[in-house]
Amino acid sequence: RELDGRSALVTGGASGIGLAIAAALLGEGMSVAVADHSEEHLAEAERLLGAAAPRPGAVVLHRLDVTDRPGFAAVADRVEEQLGGIDLLVNNAGVGLSAPMSTAGFDDWDRMLAVNLGGVVNGVVTVVPRIRRHGRGGHVVNTASMAGLIPMLDAGGIYTTTKFAVRGLSASLRLALAPDRIGVTCLCPGLTRTRILDPVGGADAPAGTPTFDATRDPVNAEFALAQGSAMDPAVLAACVVDAVRANDAYVIAHAEFDDELDALHAEVLAAVRHDVPVAPGRRAVEERRRA
Ligand code: NAI
Repeated sequence: RELDGRSALVTGGASGIGLAIAAALLGEGMSVAVADHSEEHLAEAERLLGAAAPRPGAVVLHRLDVTDRPGFAAVADRVEEQLGGIDLLVNNAGVGLSAPMSTAGFDDWDRMLAVNLGGVVNGVVTVVPRIRRHGRGGHVVNTASMAGLIPMLDAGGIYTTTKFAVRGLSASLRLALAPDRIGVTCLCPGLTRTRILDPVGGADAPAGTPTFDATRDPVNAEFALAQGSAMDPAVLAACVVDAVRANDAYVIAHAEFDDELDALHAEVLAAVRHDVPVAPGRRAVEERRRA
């Protein structure tokens, strides 16, 4: 896929992985709209991305909470005017660990589902029709996680739930949009050096944002410690550019999870009961599909 001269909208694009993706896309000659709810991150991104822009006006920044549907539509309208359409949507905004799932209340579940899954749904419903309408084809990248492939422990249980859902959404969307020449890639990062484990929920965060304190939970504290030696988001962003060009289904740049992936798939395959007869209706559908 040709990227030079095309336009992208990156949610959560003012920090970490989204910021690195925005910079990489600018490096490919794209125009980039960054949408993020944090004023502080947006101000920093404006400085960093301004320097990377291939031409004046190639970077635009918008304050957006991805759970705000009318707000999302208004930003998409404005970006279409500013950049002449959207060719690539990167649904990347997300929040990290919250209360352990074994003791979480509805608020913990609701907020994380609303941002990590609802934000992606809102991006798809708001922007995909706009990509389809201009008829040039395009691409969608959804940021899931290795936690969308391998379950995390209790502290990451709600996060895991949202990321498995983003992966399922991405896989089906890829089939659904292929006829419109719109590719879909599911980005599955492992630990990457970003702000994801910073304490959140300050004055700048949308109402209901889960608060995270690395010292509160030993598992979270371990993750916070590992952040220092985690992957550079620029490395991940370069893989995303490759995947968009090639229309790859996944970006999996953290090879240290190979054994766990193997074990998980072996567990699923071992669960298949070959002694239970396949229903005739199901077999007929399969045969029709193969014919
Ligand atoms: P980050 O905290 O550095 O960046 C996330 C950005 O999203 C921030 O600028 C934040 O202001 C913004 N954001 C959060 N909620 C938002 C909302 N409701 N509306 C709009 N913007 C919002 O974190 P990072 O790590 O770059 O996170 C990006 C994505 O990568 C997330 O979806 C996260 O789940 C995923 N991820 C991160 C991993 C890591 O180790 N850092 C590993 C796997 C996945």
